[in-house]
Amino acid sequence: MRTLEKIGEEIEKCPECKKNKFGLPVSGEGNPNAKIMFIGEAPGREESKTGRPFVGRAGKLLTELLDSIGIKREEVFITSPVKYYPGKRKLTTKEILHGRKHLLKQISVIKPKLIVALGNVALKALFPDKKLSITKIHGESIYADKIYFPTFHPAAALRFPKIKKLIKKDFCKLKKIIKEL
Ligand code: URA
Repeated sequence: MRTLEKIGEEIEKCPECKKNKFGLPVSGEGNPNAKIMFIGEAPGREESKTGRPFVGRAGKLLTELLDSIGIKREEVFITSPVKYYPGKRKLTTKEILHGRKHLLKQISVIKPKLIVALGNVALKALFPDKKLSITKIHGESIYADKIYFPTFHPAAALRFPKIKKLIKKDFCKLKKIIKEL
């Protein structure tokens, strides 16, 4: 039986993950028995320096959004499909699908009841066969093997005030869903 630590070691050693990437691996952090997982995109520069997910500007907003619905970071598990900082460029489908393999292992160990997909990259990693668009489906739960809740990536909310309003609304909906878990 794999543990989160073992998966973390596999990520650290994974040659495919390291291709054209920078800094420390960021495998994720939080409660290993979390009911809720938050899935982002890929670590940024700040994350690659510390090895911790969502510690840069987008991370601060995520922490604030969690606070606003009464959740502490330590209660949930936060990660992303891509485990290394790719630099300032668009991720390829190949690297998202590779990251998916590590992500699925983490999900199968943590066994969350609810997965919050932050943006299109998370959606692609979780539902690779479907062409889902965060703009179209954000804020509505998807009931499958567990509950999936798509919303925007906090980095998009930092860039566009309109998206910031929408993500705040989505988090209000999320609060209700979490109450019923
Ligand atoms: N964006 C992500 O998707 N993950 C991080 O860890 C930081 C920013």
